[in-house]
Amino acid sequence: MKPLGILRLGVNIDHVATVRNARGGAYPDPLRAAKLAEEAGADGITAHLREDRRHISDADIEGLMDVLSVPLNFEMAATEEMQRIALRHKPHAVCIVPEKREERTTEGGLEVAREENRLAGYIAPLREAGCRVSIFIAADARQIEAAHRIGAEVIELHTGAYCDAHSEGRLDARDAECKRLGEMAAYAHSLGLEVHAGHGLTYDTVQPIAAFPEVMELNIGHFIIGEAIFRGLSPAIHEMRRLMDAARTPAMV
Ligand code: PXP
Repeated sequence: MKPLGILRLGVNIDHVATVRNARGGAYPDPLRAAKLAEEAGADGITAHLREDRRHISDADIEGLMDVLSVPLNFEMAATEEMQRIALRHKPHAVCIVPEKREERTTEGGLEVAREENRLAGYIAPLREAGCRVSIFIAADARQIEAAHRIGAEVIELHTGAYCDAHSEGRLDARDAECKRLGEMAAYAHSLGLEVHAGHGLTYDTVQPIAAFPEVMELNIGHFIIGEAIFRGLSPAIHEMRRLMDAARTPAMV
């Protein structure tokens, strides 16, 4: 199948804030990282304002809205507080994620099917305010159908299980997860949803996901920020971009 379009890269800057918050000061500044990522070719910036504010702060979101030239993808849990904040800032995109205080990172996708009515009502004002609403879900037909029914325009497929299987050397499981992601990307696209993907992606795992023609955006954070320690933020982003572009050209996968 022919690629459907350019694959966008959203750089998640949460972990610049994690390092800043380790000392409670102002450095390193996530806004500076966001501007640098933008200059290095990021098509968007992603930031997750968690309920416990463990990395990104309210002031960071305010600053990002002021300084960014590329779209902000504002990740948040489906709480009243976050809805108020999103409606105040009206970011380009809002990505609804599940959130548990005790988790180290977003562990799974949102259970849309179980909360369909509440979520339909929850995202309606966000859509009316002009935000593109994305729902972070597992590659599961039930969740995709529910996301479609509640009126989301975008789904983001959770690639964590695929990446974990790769890093743990469970190659059969990795390949099965990858196949499922590809099938579910095609299914979601057939329903008219825009498909994004992310979580845990690295230089080693990005290409099979980037090669799925229905996937239009990847959101990648932890690995890029970690890699920036060794090669600098711009080169780390350039290499991710290069791998994504190569995967998009079938002969180079
Ligand atoms: N997409 C979503 C919805 C996420 O919650 C996260 C993690 O905050 C990412 C992408 C990026 O994941 P990672 O930091 O592992 O690249």
